Amino acid sequence: MNNLLWKIRFLIRSILLKFARKLKVRYYKGPVVRYPKNLFLKEIKIPVIVSLTFTIIVIFCMFVIGIGISYKTMIAAIIITSSMVFFIIQTKGIEKAILRDSDAVVLMCLLFIIAMFVFQISKEYISPFVSPASAFTLMSAMLLSLKIGMIYAFFLSLFVAFLNDMRFDIFLVMLCSSILVMKNVQNVRRRADFINIGFKTVVASISITSIFYFFDKYDISQFRYNSFYGMLNGAFTIILLLVFVPLFEKLFSRTTNIKLIELSDFNSPLLKRLMLEAPGTYHHSIMTADIAEQAANVVNVNSLLARVGAYYHDIGKLNKPQYFIENQVSNYNPHDRLSPTMSRLILISHVKDGVTLSRRYNIDKEITNIIEQHHGTTSIHAFYHRALEESPDTTDIENFRYPGPKPTTIESAIVMIADSSEAACRSIEEPTALRIKDVVERIINNKFVDGQFSDCPITLRDLQVIRDSVISTLIGIYHARIEYKDRK
Ligand SMILES: [Fe+2]
Ligand SMILES: [Fe+2]
Repeated sequence: MNNLLWKIRFLIRSILLKFARKLKVRYYKGPVVRYPKNLFLKEIKIPVIVSLTFTIIVIFCMFVIGIGISYKTMIAAIIITSSMVFFIIQTKGIEKAILRDSDAVVLMCLLFIIAMFVFQISKEYISPFVSPASAFTLMSAMLLSLKIGMIYAFFLSLFVAFLNDMRFDIFLVMLCSSILVMKNVQNVRRRADFINIGFKTVVASISITSIFYFFDKYDISQFRYNSFYGMLNGAFTIILLLVFVPLFEKLFSRTTNIKLIELSDFNSPLLKRLMLEAPGTYHHSIMTADIAEQAANVVNVNSLLARVGAYYHDIGKLNKPQYFIENQVSNYNPHDRLSPTMSRLILISHVKDGVTLSRRYNIDKEITNIIEQHHGTTSIHAFYHRALEESPDTTDIENFRYPGPKPTTIESAIVMIADSSEAACRSIEEPTALRIKDVVERIINNKFVDGQFSDCPITLRDLQVIRDSVISTLIGIYHARIEYKDRK
């Protein structure tokens, strides 16, 4: 009986394996996705082409409903299709990562469809001026990217004007209010900032309405009504942003500055654990964050992301904190009793453990990517040289490399540089400005020669500026410490 059961199990297993091979199921090597056990947080995998086709069909249906089936609808349909194609080409050129991310494409299409629906409803029941286009533009800029937000503002204003008998005033109000609030995107760090955005929408709306009134395009009652609707627009903008930004952040795993500020709270469970269980790593992470933030500022990338990414980059060390030098308080080093191969495995595992912890605590994708990429495919020199001394014939440097991937964003590359520089400068006995400069230059040169920056859009000029910033931050830190020591 047992034998029969075993045979059935074996048969089912082999059928399933064959089926899996046919489907070409492989280990997923793409960007980090969310923790798959939570159904609510599962990544939405809808092919890009399906999302885009669906969006075009929905917009076309809206045109048919709004304008009716006529030559106008046909012209509108041609314009929609060609502009969407143009949009995709533009997006592909400027934001490759977004089009590779099915979550982001679904969000992009959804924002467009909801904006069109909201416009139709407000046009039908109140006035087209009430439609909060700036809220949707801002959401696309915050949740996707600034460039997408700009393109989005233009097309949304164009489509809305089309749906409203090609009215230039509506186009101008929508476009101006959207562009005016776009400047705020980088500065939105608290939910209260949405009030400022709502206020700016009102100002843009009333200003454009006034211009049309002064040029006799509106009479006084039109001016009053449109100004009033502009104020309502501002109020709707605030409400929509307050409701939808956190919802889309969660549903589509997008990282906004607001989310980053929340993650940087030292009372968050992971940072608290790091502080209590691995104080050395915690201190190293804070120093790395300072260095990374300054460097990100000088190359105009997201400094908040670099800072928070640095806070979390070594959370994988929580599993075995005593095996990492910064947490060793006495002269006892557990690696002295281990073979170099074993030590290598422990050190390398902190990257994988970090990714696992990050997913378990639902830390955002962008932070998880930084954790996964902060060592790239660099090698662990200390243990490689020890292994080389013990068995020179069988030791291969490739076995002493971190599994990667290499940094894919400038923020990741900055965290990588800041991490290595901070750790290296910590081990300098008397850190003078010249020594710090030498160490940082050597670290960046070695990583560059090793090809660690080959997967991210960083230029040589960026690397030079980052190097100077890292050096000056480190000199600032160590100079202050030496002065303090001297005074004591
Ligand atoms: Fe690390
Ligand atoms: Fe580190």
